[in-house]
Amino acid sequence: MKAVHVLNGPNLNLLGTREPETYGLATLPDIEARLSALCKPRGIILHFRQSNHEGDLVTWVQEAGRAGEPVILNAGAYSHTSIALHDAIKAAKTEVIEVHLSNIHAREDFRRRSLISPVARGVILGFGAFSYDLALEAFLARTETAGNRPIANKS
Ligand code: DQA
Repeated sequence: MKAVHVLNGPNLNLLGTREPETYGLATLPDIEARLSALCKPRGIILHFRQSNHEGDLVTWVQEAGRAGEPVILNAGAYSHTSIALHDAIKAAKTEVIEVHLSNIHAREDFRRRSLISPVARGVILGFGAFSYDLALEAFLARTETAGNRPIANKS
């Protein structure tokens, strides 16, 4: 793995002050710094982005797909609504791990369904900022045990 894309959706720029009882106190720059500390010693380029706009996330998934580079995606509320992101992930020639800080299944009914999960390689949720670390570890473990073998085909 030469690079990894960590894409964050709407309102995640507010982490640290937004509902800290649900999302914790870590800010998005804190999360970026933690992931960077994991990527740097391995020579992996970290593309860490946030947008409040659905189309930006679609474009970035497409870019990662073209490059064949894995994606860690917290699409925020778009996880529950975005057919466009579902389609982008399905079309992308790379793997996407869906992450959430909170356990969306233990919250309101409208959060229990994710349109991303059916097309994601895997889902990690409920561990706060550590969900991102776990997702990166999953990609790293595959890379390190597989000796950089290309990511398996999706069905
Ligand atoms: C979230 C969960 C979503 O339901 C919510 O809209 C978010 C954050 C999470 O990381 O727990 O914005 O994706």
